[in-house]
Order: sequence, then C-alpha cells, then structure tokens
Amino acid sequence: LNIVHIAVEMAPIAKVGGLGDVVTSLSRAIQELDHNVDIILPKYDCLNLSNVKDFRYHRNYLWNGSEIKVWHGTVEGLSVYFLEPQNEFFRAGCIYGRENDAERFGFFCHAALEYLFQDGFQPDIIHCHDWSSAPVTWLCKEQYRQCLSKAGVVFTVHNLEFGAHLIGKAMAYTDKATTVSPTYSREVYENPIFGPHFDKFHGILNGIDPDIWDPFNDKFIPMSYTSENVVEGKKAAKEALQQRLGLKTVDRPLLGVISRLTHQKGIHLIKHAIYRTLERGGQVVLLGSAPDPRIQNDFANLANELHSLHYDRVRLCLVYDEPLSHLIYAGADFIAVPSIFEPCGLTQLIAMRYGSIPVVRKTGGLYDTVFDVDHDKDRAQAQDLEPNGFNFDGSDAAGVDYALNRAISRWYEDRDWFNSLCKRVMEQDWSWNRPALDYLELYHVARRAP
Ligand code: ADP
Ligand code: GLC
Repeated sequence: LNIVHIAVEMAPIAKVGGLGDVVTSLSRAIQELDHNVDIILPKYDCLNLSNVKDFRYHRNYLWNGSEIKVWHGTVEGLSVYFLEPQNEFFRAGCIYGRENDAERFGFFCHAALEYLFQDGFQPDIIHCHDWSSAPVTWLCKEQYRQCLSKAGVVFTVHNLEFGAHLIGKAMAYTDKATTVSPTYSREVYENPIFGPHFDKFHGILNGIDPDIWDPFNDKFIPMSYTSENVVEGKKAAKEALQQRLGLKTVDRPLLGVISRLTHQKGIHLIKHAIYRTLERGGQVVLLGSAPDPRIQNDFANLANELHSLHYDRVRLCLVYDEPLSHLIYAGADFIAVPSIFEPCGLTQLIAMRYGSIPVVRKTGGLYDTVFDVDHDKDRAQAQDLEPNGFNFDGSDAAGVDYALNRAISRWYEDRDWFNSLCKRVMEQDWSWNRPALDYLELYHVARRAP
C-alpha cells in the first residue's frame, strides 16, 4: 500500500506530545512491513533540522494565490515532505498556541492535498490525526474526490479534549476512524459525535518504537542494558541522574514523572505523589512543562519550596528536555502517571521498556497496559501477560497512597522480587508488532470503502 500521513507533529523534529511519537513510530512499523509511507508536515521555523537527513529543496507550486515551497528529507528512515507557504503561518513561534491555529492548520491540510494532486501522488490511504488535520477528511471527500480517487481516509483521534467539533465533523467524512486504546474508545463511546459513526470507529492500542526507545542503544544513558543486566544498568543510570541533578546518591526508591502539566495529567495527584514519596523517604524527579503559564508558575513555586526543604531528594525540572527524559526513564524505579483521563499514554510503555515500574490511575490506555501486581493477575493473563505495575481507582489522594505505599514501602524493599519485576516488564512487548497489523487490516478495508 501507499500511505500518506498528513500531520502537524512528528518526533523527534516537531514533537509536543505522544501524537508526534505515534506518527513516526506507526509509520516506521508499517514501512517495515514493506509498505510505502510518506509524511507531509508544515515547515515550521522551529524544526530541529539536525535530525533530518538529505534535506533539500524539492519543488514549488501555486495554490490559492500563494506560492508554496516543498522541501524533502529523511527522518528516522521515513520520507518527509515539508510544506513552506510564503506567508507567516509557520514562521514565528512553534507548533501550537497561536490564536489562528485552526486557520493555519486548515490552510496546511488543503495545501497538502493540493500538493499530492499536483505532484501526481496516488495514495491508497491518507491518514490524518486529531483536530489539526481533521479538515483533510472533508476536503478529500468534497474537493479531491476525483483526483485522489483511490485514497481511503483514516482518521485517528488521539485526544478528544481539543477541537471536538472538528473531530465530530471529520467522523462524518472519514472511511475509518481509530482511537488509541480500546478502553478510551469505550469511554468516549457515549459522546454524541461518535453515535452515528460508531461502526467505523475502532480502538487500537498505540505501540512504541523499540529502536527509538532502547536502553541497549541509547546515547543519553551511561550504560547499555537489556533485561539480563537490568539491575546494573538501572543502578548506573540512577547514579548518573542523581549526580546530574545534585541529588544524594543513595539507594532509595526514586519516583519519576514525565508529563505535560495539564489538567488531563492529574496535577493534584502528581503533587500528592511527590509529597507522599518524600514522606516515605524516597526521591522524586519531575520533568514537565505547562502550556498554561499559571500552572507553570504554580510548579515553579512548588519547586522553590521543595528544593529548599529537601534539596538533595527532589528536583522539578520545568522544561521540555528529550535527553533528560531518557535518563529519567532509565534511572527511576517508578514512573507515575496518575492521569484523570488518558487516551493511550506512552510514558508508561517507555518506562517499562527501560525496566521502570508504572504507577498509574486506571483510565484509558493506562488501564489497558498496566496490570497491578496485587490485583490484576487474571486480567493480565487474559492478555498473555504477567502483572507489571501498580494502579488505583478514584481521583483523590487516597488512591495514589494506596498504589504508592505498596510500591515504595512494601514491594521495593523486597529487592529480589522487585528486581525480577523490572526484568519481567522489560521483556513485555509494547511495540507496534501487534497493533501495526490491526492498522494494516483497517487500511485494506478503508481503501475499498466507497
Ligand atoms: P501526551 O501526548 O498526552 O502528552 P503521551 O504519554 O502519549 O502523552 O506522550 C508524551 C510524550 O512526550 C512521551 O514521549 C514523553 O516522553 C514526552 N514528554 C512529555 N513531557 C516531556 C518533557 N517535559 N520533556 C521531554 N519529553 C517529554
Ligand atoms: C494524546 C493523548 C495520549 C496518547 C497520545 C498518542 O496526546 O493524550 O494519551 O498517548 O495522544 O496517541
């Protein structure tokens, strides 16, 4: 099949969150199964071009009175076309956060389809993502029906929190729609925008790319490791993390949080988890940034307070820092993800790939991927898995306490058992191996759809 993704994020060159990871990792998985994948992305001024190979001018074209330059390059082995309109849309600032975002991305979607048409592409599948590329669905069906006639349209809902009206409109036009975990698909089932279209809506769990997230081959951690030497590898990473952040190099449970700091991620629960871990004698490292300046400010105040009270046991790093995230995934014992809702969540999957144990709230994709060592043996077995973490219900402090107390004060102290748990979670497969096949099946059906 020939598949074209039209997206506004792509890891690692233009990433805000998991959507960017998925565009890259799903594409790589499908390409490995011998299909052709191209990605069309805006050429933002803030692109990290050092991660683009063979970046070169490709051509230009005219659309709607504007000249659009097209650049081409290779990112993580994938062919990417970058559209650069000669207007201000993708210049100052970065991906999101401008008042005219809907207009900018609407323009991009239209320009992308026009480019496919003018350059003679004949895709079998056009795959678009969330509200920002939702216009592709109706433009494809209304204005490009004749010239992109082979193309089936697939639309993935990564997060219904943003642009729900655009997502609702896309549902009417797309041939197939997915969301990023089975449980989230059930959670949003009752939203009226899905009602009439439910038969084309599928929950397919995200995967992570095992080559991009690989503790055996990761330039940001001090020692390569696999499940065979996970104890030594994580010990080296923990010490490097402690030294880098000025924490005491002690062998105490270290809780990591790597998150966009928004309501979705359970801010009050994150704070509670920090306090509770410190009370129980552990260490905490948080890496996160908040799009809302009030939340960013609130965390900056919390950082001041905590750094002065427990200077050698806690660090809140309020930035976006990809290399540091790798060191935290490897060096932490636990990664907390207490989200209020979570369509899939990738941080718990990456944590497991590095032998860190997830502590999560039971919602969306967190429910589908984390099975409690004390309670979920049967549920795990039904998926051919062993339990792999800690989870809790509810959205108050008691839930967090329930999971963290068991994790930190009980199971962490039983070191042989805990080390075997780290080894076991590393060996679980959260790659695209299975879900990529589900996407391919869906692509085949979408392509035949009228
Ligand atoms: P969401 O897309 O809702 O933010 P996901 O769990 O799907 O949540 O994906 C988050 C991605 O962003 C992961 O790859 C995670 O490692 C990364 N990430 C989040 N915050 C930061 C940060 N401050 N620095 C570096 N990476 C981050
Ligand atoms: C969204 C969701 C997150 C999901 C990611 C990738 O940002 O918030 O749960 O993992 O998209 O699909």
